[in-house]
Amino acid sequence: MAVENCTMFTDFIFLGLSDRQDVQQGLLVLFLLVYGITVIANLGMILLIKMDSKLHTPMHYFLSNLSFCDICYSSTVSLKMLADFLSEQKTIPYSLCAIQIYYFRAFADVECLVLALTAYVHYVAVYNPLLYTTVMSKRVCIQLVAIAYIVGLIDSAVHTCCKFQLSFCHSNIINHFFCDISLLLALSTSDTSINEIMVFTFIGCAMGVQHCPRPPVLQLHHNYHP
Ligand SMILES: *[C@@H]1O[C@H](CO)[C@@H](O)[C@H](O)[C@H]1NC(C)=O
Repeated sequence: MAVENCTMFTDFIFLGLSDRQDVQQGLLVLFLLVYGITVIANLGMILLIKMDSKLHTPMHYFLSNLSFCDICYSSTVSLKMLADFLSEQKTIPYSLCAIQIYYFRAFADVECLVLALTAYVHYVAVYNPLLYTTVMSKRVCIQLVAIAYIVGLIDSAVHTCCKFQLSFCHSNIINHFFCDISLLLALSTSDTSINEIMVFTFIGCAMGVQHCPRPPVLQLHHNYHP
């Protein structure tokens, strides 16, 4: 759909959570506290797993990676939000919005994938301890985590590129405190049906993987178990 006389905006404006100064200061303290706890707790977890050699197991490597994703994921949204509580004009340049969407989505993807891996590896450990001890080496662990990162980064790149081919002509005001994909789709003046199909397809696949009752490799070996 071609739009005539489209003056492209160079940035977006967030409305934030409130426009009252005192409310914003209260929220700043609250969110600073929550963000601080998130970072310290996750950093503590990573350091603990790194320092204690008893915790050098696949399970703890996954946990450590989950903590890492948690820090990155919350930082993409929180840092800008916290800075915005202090400023009058809550603008975000177009490019920073793309970066925010990219990292937000990438780390969210990686976190979900690592969480799913953790669940499957737990499953093997409980239902097939023999297979677990023979198969689960440090190398396999690194490979699994690497796959999660590669899939997450590629998926996010595809989605972000599609979002930023849209044009935004009518308005650049986002009634939120970060660049959320669904709000950008609603704001766009282009045809967003392909983007919507992509979002639904990805979520459909993710749900399919999550509800897969048992990984096929485990079914093959299942009769080893008494
Ligand atoms: C993530 O997992 C890999 C593979 O198990 C591990 O080598 C690495 O140290 C972990 N990374 C973090 C930040 O914990």
